[in-house]
Amino acid sequence: MEDLSPRPDELDPIERASTDELRALQTERLRWSVRHAYDNVPHYRAAFEAAGAHPDDVREPADLARLPFTTKADLRENYPFGMFAVPREQVARIHASSGTTGRPTVVGYTKDDLDVWSEVVARSIRAAGGRAGHVVHVAYGYGLFTGGLGAHYGAERLGCTVVPVSGGMTERQVQLIGDFAPDVIMVTPSYMLAIVEEMERQGIDPRSSSLKVGIFGAEPWTDDMRAELEQRLDMHAVDIYGLSEVMGPGVASECVETKDGPTIWEDHFYPEVIDPITGEVLGDGEEGELVFTSLTKQAMPVIRYRTRDLTRLLPGTARTMRRMGKITGRTDDMIILRGVNLFPTQIEELILRDLPALSPHFQCRLSRPGTLDELTVVVERRDGVGPESAEDAGRTLRERIKAVIGVSVTVDVVGPGGVERSVGKMRRIVDERPKR
Ligand code: DLL
Repeated sequence: MEDLSPRPDELDPIERASTDELRALQTERLRWSVRHAYDNVPHYRAAFEAAGAHPDDVREPADLARLPFTTKADLRENYPFGMFAVPREQVARIHASSGTTGRPTVVGYTKDDLDVWSEVVARSIRAAGGRAGHVVHVAYGYGLFTGGLGAHYGAERLGCTVVPVSGGMTERQVQLIGDFAPDVIMVTPSYMLAIVEEMERQGIDPRSSSLKVGIFGAEPWTDDMRAELEQRLDMHAVDIYGLSEVMGPGVASECVETKDGPTIWEDHFYPEVIDPITGEVLGDGEEGELVFTSLTKQAMPVIRYRTRDLTRLLPGTARTMRRMGKITGRTDDMIILRGVNLFPTQIEELILRDLPALSPHFQCRLSRPGTLDELTVVVERRDGVGPESAEDAGRTLRERIKAVIGVSVTVDVVGPGGVERSVGKMRRIVDERPKR
């Protein structure tokens, strides 16, 4: 694979700033952001008052701990525009997350916010190895979801030729990759797998494609999945993270030279990691729930927004800014099975690490046949592998899950195509338990 690391002179000046310079900028921006939220969003004023907190209490980032958290429920209660800090007329764009139940979560951006968003996505694409002049195939969904448009404007900002394909119509994705010869693809890792399979079905060798870099995110994926994608496509696979409440894709993104977890663009988003149960702030390196405070957002500032994503903060490597570890899972995607906590990413690792008879297509089905919950891992065998050796691998997987995670599950090995394909975010957990 080509060395695509950016030269230092290609980076934004803040990417090369010292930690002290970065902290000074963050402190100044943080004070502004907290004051802006308090002055202009009734919810924040009320929440601060209820917690006995005031914007003047925040003199430096460590003081954030004095402020109350913001949750998805707060956003829902203020549906649709109650969290906006500017008159609606100044909101240039709305996005929303569908939400499986109830009201969607609505987010808004001023023109300046859209500008910052494009800038951080452009920075993310460059960190991944993209350059002005590259062709960028965007297969994240366009629409209320932030993936498509977020990637799109970032790629335009960097000076790329953007192909706005959106998700779905997999045959056409393959045709356009062949015809337009993109250098970069931006897509969920699970949908990338579906595209690879379609290439293989058409007799095209995915390793011979023009793609040099895949910028994958919007769902958890492991380093083992990175190895799988890099091997099958002969390209760099890097991780982009974000969430609509904080901005969209590009809150953090991985540097191609290190591939050691997304660098958080800390000049715009201040991270904390907390104990999800007590709310206590944890030290760098400790695993917990990621919390973000926006530093520059005008339309919808977020103060201590609880992402529900589990990870840890790590020191900077390719940049001075801190990194986050790859997301293990979401607090609401944690399966608690007979007292043992488990995440689909752990299963992904066990499947991909050394069971070559099994494919990365799997799903976790939760059921309650009697009084206890049961978990069935449905996993496909790889194309060309006989059912018997796949069954053997399935048994090994069951034993490993028992030995490593400490819980008994059923493993159901199915034929190629037996697990549903996603065109966006893959549904890893199917909950078939009776509703209480
Ligand atoms: O998924 C934004 C996005 C689009 C990010 C495209 C990256 C690429 P939401 O729909 O609001 O926004 O979902 C946000 O998705 O809280 C995580 O749980 C998960 N997520 C996003 N990126 C990653 C990632 C977009 N790289 C939620 N690794 C977040 C793991 C991710 N999980």
